[in-house]
Amino acid sequence: MNENFVKTAVIGHPIAHSKSPLIHNTWLGKYELNGSYEAVDIAPDVLGTGVKALVKQGYCGFNVTLPHKIAIIDLCDEIDARAKTIGAVNTVTICDGKLYGTNTDAFGFAHNILETCKDKGWDDWSFAGGRAIVLGAGGASRAVIYALLNQGVPEIVLLNRTREKADELAQMAPDKIIVRSWDERNKIVIDANLIVNTTSLGMEGKPPLDIDISLAPPDALVTDIVYAPLYTGLLQQAKGQNLRHVTGIGMLLHQARPGFELWNGVMPEVTPALIDKVLAA
Ligand SMILES: NC(=O)c1ccc[n+]([C@@H]2O[C@H](COP(=O)([O-])OP(=O)(O)OC[C@H]3O[C@@H](n4cnc5c(N)ncnc54)[C@H](OP(=O)(O)O)[C@@H]3O)[C@@H](O)[C@H]2O)c1
Repeated sequence: MNENFVKTAVIGHPIAHSKSPLIHNTWLGKYELNGSYEAVDIAPDVLGTGVKALVKQGYCGFNVTLPHKIAIIDLCDEIDARAKTIGAVNTVTICDGKLYGTNTDAFGFAHNILETCKDKGWDDWSFAGGRAIVLGAGGASRAVIYALLNQGVPEIVLLNRTREKADELAQMAPDKIIVRSWDERNKIVIDANLIVNTTSLGMEGKPPLDIDISLAPPDALVTDIVYAPLYTGLLQQAKGQNLRHVTGIGMLLHQARPGFELWNGVMPEVTPALIDKVLAA
């Protein structure tokens, strides 16, 4: 192996289902780079030794998925402000044996919407155009809210089954985030510029998301970060009402881009062909 070979990976438990190796290896091939990206299964009780082994084996960096996104923070020598605010690390760069953590989920969420708007010619829609309604206050919601604040959303209305979790998340920007009751979800969409599902509801094997968005304005954009199935019940409703809608698969693809750039020096592209390849896998 030559010394410019860039060894990277995704760690998680379980990890066999991960689409990240397919995404990264497609890019390594496309940009003719000298490197590898593999899935490494590390159980929670051996996270520390597992990560040390990656450092010893000369890895340049790795992505982090469930269940390690919070536990990895303590193993990092440094994490950036974004990862601190989101409270999770999904991308680690190894430099001189030290671990630097960041979080690219907010980038992935925002760029999925920005790129879709560009591709579809939705020039009249912008994050700054009005209120965002966010359903869910779990781990992914923290990254979504961070992205919305960064993109200039003027006001975020946050609804979660467990209200205390929404109240806690609202502390990220108390002047911009309003917490409302989960039971208000049907009527709260009336003046939405953006509606986002960040709950796991609607995902294969989970209960459906019980919501009626018929009151949503005709210029609203609807997105779901659940991507299996690609067309969740929420997105089917949006489609049926002729509302602009963005599927969740792009978030997964776009969140992979900054890590790839950090390790390989090339900011890769998300193309329709790559999206099809990942969906077919
Ligand atoms: N597209 C992507 O790249 C991407 C990235 C990350 C995550 N995701 C997807 O996003 C989803 C959420 O992930 P996460 O990591 O945030 O999960 P999480 O931390 O476990 O949060 C789950 C969320 O769903 C809510 N929820 C679960 N069951 C519910 C029910 N029966 N009724 C009402 N609310 C319910 C939870 O509410 P409570 O607080 O009340 O429990 C919480 O807000 C998953 O489906 C994941 O696959 C997609």
